[in-house]
Amino acid sequence: MTIKVALLPGDGIGPEVMGATRLVLEALEEKTGVGFQFETYPIGDKVKEETGTALPAETLEGVRKADACLFACVGETAKETILPLRQRLDLYANLRPAKAYPGVPALNPRTDLMIVRENTEGIYKMIGHRAGDSAFNVRVITREASERITRYAFQYAESKGLGKVTAVHKANVLDYTDGLFLEAARAVASEHPDVEYEEMIVDAAAMKLVMRPEDFQVVVTTNMFGDILSDLTAGLVGGLGMAPSANIGDRYSIFEPVHGSAPDIAGRGIANPSACILSAAMMLEWLGEEESAARVEGAVVSVLAEGRVRTPDLGGSASTLDFARAVAERV
Ligand code: NAI
Ligand code: MG
Repeated sequence: MTIKVALLPGDGIGPEVMGATRLVLEALEEKTGVGFQFETYPIGDKVKEETGTALPAETLEGVRKADACLFACVGETAKETILPLRQRLDLYANLRPAKAYPGVPALNPRTDLMIVRENTEGIYKMIGHRAGDSAFNVRVITREASERITRYAFQYAESKGLGKVTAVHKANVLDYTDGLFLEAARAVASEHPDVEYEEMIVDAAAMKLVMRPEDFQVVVTTNMFGDILSDLTAGLVGGLGMAPSANIGDRYSIFEPVHGSAPDIAGRGIANPSACILSAAMMLEWLGEEESAARVEGAVVSVLAEGRVRTPDLGGSASTLDFARAVAERV
């Protein structure tokens, strides 16, 4: 079977980590029956400089035509690229796992949780207004999106045999919006009596995630809280170089490392490609290629656990390509 994958390398370290990921996928192709047809499309700051648009029509079309899409990162044009992609393709579930891998300095090696972030509304609707020295951004929460994301979280927990979903909110202050979010979450929770349902206020959740991450399995939350908490949990397990993610809708999907274009290290060939490679593993799982997904993740884990080949962010001196080659060998 041939899988059509749209590759969106973007800016900064994007082409470096994407090249590394492609190497690993090509090794998988050689060693298994999976076949890929890669198409690369422009996105981000550079194509905006050249053509005036950061998200060319051919790129959007390419993502729609493909079976799945792998996006690396952009620089200043995130608002004009990944945000509209998520909203226009209705990629409502943003999955951000935080897993402590052996061999990676993690604050708490028992961390293994999934943040399920609502990806289409909240404060990211970008509805706002500036009136002189006052400014407003409107936080939009709907029952439909809240139910849909909580349902996704419960179904995810069930599919993985996990026993608990934690809804994170600030309903004590954001009474209208998070009041509605919780109302929707409770209704969905009552449809899933076999999974424990817990509610936690976001500030307390931030502390508990740091002190006792092992108490969490699946966290479901609104857009901005999920954005912030998932960087926090990335910090728990070795930093942004280790944080993959998925944007999933009923029809389309885009897989991407959580990190940005990392201008401070771009062009030096030292970025950690793990986040992008692990995003590709999430893509394979979503495509139903569970065995390939496990092979790719397992290869990353094995190289990290051995500890000989590590990029500088993890305390090593290997290059992006050294690491990718080591992973490709183990696939
Ligand atoms: P960043 O994620 O690019 O970098 C933060 C820090 O983490 C830097 O010190 C960087 O060197 C390090 N880092 C990130 N990824 C790494 C990797 N794979 N290996 C080793 N170290 C890594 O975030 P920052 O600096 O806030 O933003 C830089 C640019 O990226 C900005 O223009 C921002 O708008 C954009 N951005 C784009 C995103 C996207 O494309 N989805 C997401 C976040 C930021
Ligand atoms: Mg972010």
